[in-house]
Amino acid sequence: MIEQDFIPKPYKELPNNGAVSYQSPSNIALVKYWGKHGEQLPENASISFTLSNCNTQTELSFEAKSGTEFEFEVYLDGNKEIGFEPKIRSFFERVEQYLPFLRKYMFVIKTSNSFPHSSGIASSASGMSALALCLLEMERSMTEGGLADDYFNKKASFLARLGSGSASRSIEGPLVVWGNHPDIAESTNLYGVNFDGAVHENFTNYQDTILLVDKGEKQVSSTVGHNLMHNHPYAQQRFSTANENLSKLIAILENGDLSSFIEVVESEALQLHAMMMSSMPYFILMKPNTLEIINRIWAYRKTTKSKVCFTLDAGANVHVLYPNSEKDAVLTFIESELAPFCKNGEFISDQAGFGAIKL
Ligand code: PMV
Repeated sequence: MIEQDFIPKPYKELPNNGAVSYQSPSNIALVKYWGKHGEQLPENASISFTLSNCNTQTELSFEAKSGTEFEFEVYLDGNKEIGFEPKIRSFFERVEQYLPFLRKYMFVIKTSNSFPHSSGIASSASGMSALALCLLEMERSMTEGGLADDYFNKKASFLARLGSGSASRSIEGPLVVWGNHPDIAESTNLYGVNFDGAVHENFTNYQDTILLVDKGEKQVSSTVGHNLMHNHPYAQQRFSTANENLSKLIAILENGDLSSFIEVVESEALQLHAMMMSSMPYFILMKPNTLEIINRIWAYRKTTKSKVCFTLDAGANVHVLYPNSEKDAVLTFIESELAPFCKNGEFISDQAGFGAIKL
């Protein structure tokens, strides 16, 4: 599909008012997206586990209006959030040609996250995908004959991507690929697709416990971070390594080789941070406790032969990944050995999930 395929045909009657709600999950990348070009197009392909418990619930209500401005209000947990308005305004500008009704309505966006606001967990993937889904559900109701599910999912991901790149991977699950990759026929830079290769049972209900190491505001926005990949001395090498890692992961997902899974996933996390440490300006998002946790995971693996591993987002929190079969043992380890390195001992237990749901 190409961009033009997402420009809708003229609508049948536009409703005067209404409301629609979606719950959309966060996701955790195994092969990372870091670096983009054009309109939110990734420099390399990425793959993520869709999460289950970490999600955003958004209710979008709309009322027909006159005038040609964008009009909307945003509420987070019931409180008006003018801080979100610039991001939503630029999202509306980017998606307007694909949702040509946006200037015809006054919108009220009421949103809440299942995870604490100040947890340091990025809410852009779940938040932007939930909003994209609500807007597309509106379009579905205005479209003669509705929208087929497959087209709906692709366009929802396409729109979410224009809000936040990683949001394109939050529509479906449990494994979503975003970005052109020669080994995945359906893959595209325009939207995320459910990974349709063979997946070994070792990866069923894969666990992700998120250790909240630092709950502060992000030191570096992801927009700034992505931009630092332009003129980065190691950028081209990084993009090709990411694509090679995705090729490796496709084979690993099929054969269930957890040791090789660990190698790819941990190396990806460290490469993401290595890119930040070697950009100009450079920065370090890991905290001392991030490193302490990583070392303890490595020590635990050595003594127990466990297949637990870690990955990182663009922050200090650690995602602890492990097979469902190790759930009890690893949770005991996390509670006794890793939780003391989290802010107030806090962590969130999650696992791979199946994507967004209409409420
Ligand atoms: O979606 P953005 O623009 O906030 O980028 C986030 C990228 C990472 O989370 C650091 C990696 C990824 O692939 O999710």
